[in-house]
Order: sequence, then structure tokens, then C-alpha cells
Amino acid sequence: MDFEQYPDSTFRYMTRADVIEAARSVDIVEAVSEALVLHSEGKSILPEEAYLGWTTPDGSSARCLAMPGALTTDTRSVIGLKTINASLTNPDRGIPRSQGFTLLLDQDTARPVVLMEAAYISAMRTAAVTALAARHLACETPRTVAFLGCGTLAQAHAALLLSTFPTLSEVVAYDISPGRAKSFLDFVKKLPGGERVTVKAVDEARNCVTGADLVVPVTTVTEGYIEPDWLKPGTLVAHVSLDDLTEAAVLNAGLLVVDDWSLVRDDPRRLLGRMHRAGTLLGPDGEPRPGVSPQARTKRVDAALGDIVTGRHPGRRSDGDIVVSNPFGMSILDVAVADRVHAEAETRGIGSTLNL
Ligand SMILES: NC(=O)c1ccc[n+]([C@@H]2O[C@H](COP(=O)([O-])OP(=O)(O)OC[C@H]3O[C@@H](n4cnc5c(N)ncnc54)[C@H](O)[C@@H]3O)[C@@H](O)[C@H]2O)c1
Repeated sequence: MDFEQYPDSTFRYMTRADVIEAARSVDIVEAVSEALVLHSEGKSILPEEAYLGWTTPDGSSARCLAMPGALTTDTRSVIGLKTINASLTNPDRGIPRSQGFTLLLDQDTARPVVLMEAAYISAMRTAAVTALAARHLACETPRTVAFLGCGTLAQAHAALLLSTFPTLSEVVAYDISPGRAKSFLDFVKKLPGGERVTVKAVDEARNCVTGADLVVPVTTVTEGYIEPDWLKPGTLVAHVSLDDLTEAAVLNAGLLVVDDWSLVRDDPRRLLGRMHRAGTLLGPDGEPRPGVSPQARTKRVDAALGDIVTGRHPGRRSDGDIVVSNPFGMSILDVAVADRVHAEAETRGIGSTLNL
């Protein structure tokens, strides 16, 4: 075959608006739950993510993540890649911090079948993981949810949590930029379910966390600040931004849950990976990192969230346990949700067809 005259092949292209429209008919929590179960049953391929970080000309941080993943159901494989890229100063430019594409591939030919905007699904699948963690690991009737950081992820979480947990009656928010906390709470009040909650912006992280049943850090920090005594007994911390807890707060957790231990273990940048390298965090098998001596005080990873969803692990041991869920972020969740969004787009003709 002449390589300059390969036959055309087509793929679907979906803008953010297309993705949002198609996703209206998709149960994202259910899709994420099914993916967690498949992962827990070993029916997934989840390579280590590729991380490229750089310093922008104005001295800020930017990064590109490339996250491939595959899931195998009883009938077929769903294969794809998310690339999600972020520049810390984007919000000051009036644009979202992170953006990118998710690509799904044909299981036989490996050709692209759809290319879609990634950030919407990325935010919603992350919120769905928190909703599932809360369903299985929060106290019986969570009333107060605390948001540390009031950007895109906070909005996605608020939208999903208010519609999923009718017992929530208070939203407390803190952001280093008070204007963002205020805009976020205005957004919350307009959500379905927003009318039933009281909202409060606070001027210190500690005041945000104190008294909350569900704590959702969604900041961009790289150093922990949430101390163990800030958290009341029974609290669930959905540690979405991965670096907000202090090491002492992790060591103090009654139950420590990850989404995938190998992703956490192999990453040298975020808190849990650093603790594993320092000998304060042991793997689920109770073993330290090879070549690392365990410190006097250690914490062992208790379970993967998928094992809790399937019931293989019983979850919290007592009502007073402080539970930490540390969702590193798995590509297979983006791929699973993107697959359902793509199916919906095919049925309803959403998006455009492009040639490769
Ligand atoms: N674990 C996962 O699966 C997953 C998935 C997606 C995003 N994330 C993480 O979630 C975080 C939030 O993402 P986003 O898209 O909402 O970012 P964003 O930039 O839209 O919002 C972050 C907000 O945090 C605020 N902030 C920064 N430092 C703070 C501090 N010390 N205290 C309080 N507020 C602070 C900023 O002012 C901003 O409003 C990022 O760290 C991102 O990497 C995790």
C-alpha cells in the first residue's frame, strides 16, 4: 500500500458542549462504580501515568499528564487515553486551569474512534469517586460538606453531592482567593438542591474543616496543612488534591483507602508516594517499600475503593473512625465514562465526523 494514499478513516470529534449534552443521559456514578468493580476483579490495564512538568515563562508551574487505560467487560474491551494538561495561572487569565482530550480506540484496529474534550468528564468522574466513597465510607447522615479550594473540581463535586445526598444541609467553603469562594457559593445556591443548604465562606482552612462530616480538599497545594486535630471523629476526607493532609493526619486515619495502590506507590510527588519512600506508609500487604526501613510510626493502606464497593472489604471499623480516601485518579474511569458518552453521541448524532 502506498503510504501517501492510505484510505480515509473517520472518527467522531466532540467539543465540551457535545460532551456535556451527551453526558446528560449517562449515569456517571454508575459508570464509575462499574469501572471500579472491573478494576477490583483484575479486568483492567492501568499503566503508570506519564508526567511532564515545566516552568512557564512567567515562573509558574504547568504540566501534561498522559494516562492510558483499558477495561474488559464480558463482551468487549474499552481502550483509551486521557491527556490532561494544566497551567496554574490559567484562572488568572480567565480560563480553566486544566484542559485536554480523551481518545477512545477501536479494539480491533487500534484506530481512534472518538476524540473528545477531557476536562468535563475528568471533573465529573472524580466527583463520582467521592460520591461513591461517601456512599460507602461517610457517617450515616452526612450534613456538612467542607470544600477547601473553590474551582472547577469544587463545582463538579457540589453539583453531584447535592443531588446524591439529600441529608446535606450545609456547605462551607474556603479559598485563598475569597472572591472564588463567594462565586462558588453563589453557584451552589443555584444548583438543584442548593435551596435547601445553608452556605458559609470562612477565612481560614481550619474553620472550614472543623465540624464537617465530609471534607473535600480540591486545591493546588503541594504541602500539607490539614492537621489531625482539625477533623472530628467520623469524618470522611476525600483527599482529591492529594497533598492537603499532613503526614500526621494520614497516620491518624482509622481507615486509609486508595483507588489503586500501584499508581500511588509509583508516584514520587504526592503525599502518599512520598510517605511510602520515607518509610511511614506501608502497602496493603503491610510491607514497606523494598530497601526502605519502616519508621517507628507507620500507617498501612487498608483497601482499594473497588474492594469496598464490591463488599470484599467491610469499610470503616467504627463510627468514630476518621476515614481518608485518596483517589490518585485512574484513566480507566475517564475511559469508562467516555465510552458511555460516545455511545450516547452515536445514538443521538452529537459531535462531528472528521477524517484521520
Ligand atoms: N485525584 C483526582 O482524580 C483528581 C482529578 C482532577 C483534579 N484533581 C486535583 O484537584 C485539584 C483542583 O482542581 P481544579 O481543576 O478544581 O483546580 P482550580 O484551579 O480550578 O481550583 C483550585 C482552587 O484552589 C484554590 N487554592 C489554591 N491553594 C489553596 C489553598 N492553600 N487553600 C485554599 N484554596 C486554595 C485556588 O484559588 C483555586 O480556586 C487539583 O490539585 C487537581 O490536580 C484531582
